[in-house]
Amino acid sequence: MSETEQKPVVPAQATAPAAETMKNREPLLEVDNVTLRFGGVVALDKVDFTLYKGEILGLIGPNGAGKTTCFNAMTGIYQPTEGQIRFRGEKISGKKRHQITQMGMARTFQNIRLFPEMTALENVQVGADAHHKTSVISALFRLPRHRREEREGREKAQRLLEFVGIPHRLHEYARNLSYGEQRRLEIARALATDPVLLCLDEPAAGFNPAEKEELLQLIRQIRDQGVTVLLIEHDMRLVMGVTDRIVVLEFGKKIAEGLPAEVRDNPKVIAAYLGVPDDAA
Ligand SMILES: Nc1ncnc2c1ncn2[C@@H]1O[C@H](COP(=O)(O)OP(=O)(O)O)[C@@H](O)[C@H]1O
Ligand SMILES: [Mg+2]
Repeated sequence: MSETEQKPVVPAQATAPAAETMKNREPLLEVDNVTLRFGGVVALDKVDFTLYKGEILGLIGPNGAGKTTCFNAMTGIYQPTEGQIRFRGEKISGKKRHQITQMGMARTFQNIRLFPEMTALENVQVGADAHHKTSVISALFRLPRHRREEREGREKAQRLLEFVGIPHRLHEYARNLSYGEQRRLEIARALATDPVLLCLDEPAAGFNPAEKEELLQLIRQIRDQGVTVLLIEHDMRLVMGVTDRIVVLEFGKKIAEGLPAEVRDNPKVIAAYLGVPDDAA
């Protein structure tokens, strides 16, 4: 059948701007009805959400809500008991961690995982070894093709350390960096894999308000380079200022999803957060 398609004369109107805009965007990561059990503990219970290209999505919820488990399922550390996760249209299940990295997903850890006896530069170069070609970051830095890979890795690592704000710490051992510098170094290392999606697990934990604000600026800059960001955060106020949308988990279930203001005013979210002490340093 070759019927001519009826195209609307007037393009879709932005009646509900943010929600509609997101619907027209390209899904990057689809978490589809994911359940993950640890023995009797249901860490994720039929969790569903989509992350669209170019957005900063906040994944929030009280301690134990399942946020880190969700990252672990996305990055191939755990296999969902049920459900499916797709990244760039491809199923994640059965893939190895390095394969997922090569597909363009990078993460940082809630508990910093650096090589303490290696310099900042070396830590980032380790990340760069996992790089792949279709890269936003490589394009950004326009590294000449003919250079030897090692040299490229080194130059890229230097630029990334500059980008995250610790260029003066290049040759310092990771263990000698301040806590805040270590968090930034972790981000640089994750960026060195040329991700299209960067997942940050409580990157501001233990930061004072000024440090948190600086980190938010860095996250915005990362997004402005074309990298999609999934940001786990316990402190709800922190994500309000930087995220485009927020997904809220509680006891493994998604209890809310929407624009920051919608989520903030949602009674279920308020109830979930009542009585939960802030994790301020
Ligand atoms: N490896 C594991 N084995 C058993 N239980 C786990 C494991 N990882 C997480 N859990 C449990 O899953 C739930 C969610 O944990 P987690 O994802 O770390 O929460 P969040 O990051 O939101 O604080 C908690 O009850 C936690 O104890
Ligand atoms: Mg966690």
